Amino acid sequence: MKFQIAVLEGDGIGPEVTREAIRVLQRIAARYEHEFHFAYALIGGAAIKETGSPFPPQTQELCLQSDAVLLGAVGSPEFDHLPAAERPEAGLLQLRRALGGFANLRPAVSYESITAISPLRAEIVTGVEILIVRELLGGLYFGEPRGMKSEGSEAFNTMRYSVNEIERVAHVAFKAAQQRQRKVTSVDKANVLETSQLWRQTVTRVAKDYPDVALDHLYVDACAMHLITNPKRFDVILTENLFGDILSDEAAVMTGSLGMLASATIGGAIDLYEPVHGSAPDIAGQNKANPFGAIASAAMMLRHTAKLEREADAIEAAIRSVLDHGYRTADINGDGSGTLSSTTEIGQLVEGNL
Ligand code: IPM
Ligand code: MN
Repeated sequence: MKFQIAVLEGDGIGPEVTREAIRVLQRIAARYEHEFHFAYALIGGAAIKETGSPFPPQTQELCLQSDAVLLGAVGSPEFDHLPAAERPEAGLLQLRRALGGFANLRPAVSYESITAISPLRAEIVTGVEILIVRELLGGLYFGEPRGMKSEGSEAFNTMRYSVNEIERVAHVAFKAAQQRQRKVTSVDKANVLETSQLWRQTVTRVAKDYPDVALDHLYVDACAMHLITNPKRFDVILTENLFGDILSDEAAVMTGSLGMLASATIGGAIDLYEPVHGSAPDIAGQNKANPFGAIASAAMMLRHTAKLEREADAIEAAIRSVLDHGYRTADINGDGSGTLSSTTEIGQLVEGNL
């Protein structure tokens, strides 16, 4: 098949990890006779430097003409002094809004061969397979009004959700659960927040359409605790934007490293794929970043958008095989017993396994 991919490498380690994802996609294209086209555009700090904007119009145009967007990471300490609305991260939020994807799928999978590197005991993490469904276009990230009083004495953000915004992401979570262990845990703060009360009522109503899926509710503080004491109790976690941001980093502890996590953002005009990790400026340009999350994001792209299930399975099997053979980037090399490998080497190993 023909498939057009907009590549936004972004900042820090973004270009390095994205390069490895593309290497793997190119091998898939050759092996299974697809035509994948890659077109590049700027986002984040890299875009600010070139154009003055973290999300230039050319980038938006390219993305909206593509079949999917593959993103590296955004964020750079040199822009820390800027107001939130002008920082590299604002470019990512503008991109998400422009594409319209409201459901961010973040699988947290504990890979058998690296369970030992999690600071959690092996018996807690072995076999964990959680899917976090994070609402991505609402809540505090986008609610108006927002701002900083010009004298800097006060700042404010608004948490706001409509029934429609909750329903549409809830349907994604329940449908995903039907393909998994048939359990949704909806996470909110309904003992304090009105948005969470609406969230809970709405999710409870949507659940009636899915009698085969069990629903339970947790407050976000309790969920944070259960995630590390008993992660196996979870199948699908459904939650709002900021809670999902926080809980997905926490869930990464199970996998051993944030570098392992992939994500897909679906439901809008164009789907967006990005590793969950950030731009890691401290290790940028050193060829030691973990590309597994980026490569796994490419696999999600093939499965969800291109509908190339077999190809996605092949990439995921290759990732497992490389891990099973002991190849590790520094962040997942625990006691140092693995074969320490560079970003490029990991990409080549995955490629070679296809
Ligand atoms: C993530 C990131 C982003 C977010 C930042 C970079 C805006 O932390 O994708 O989890 O908060 O959504
Ligand atoms: Mn985050």
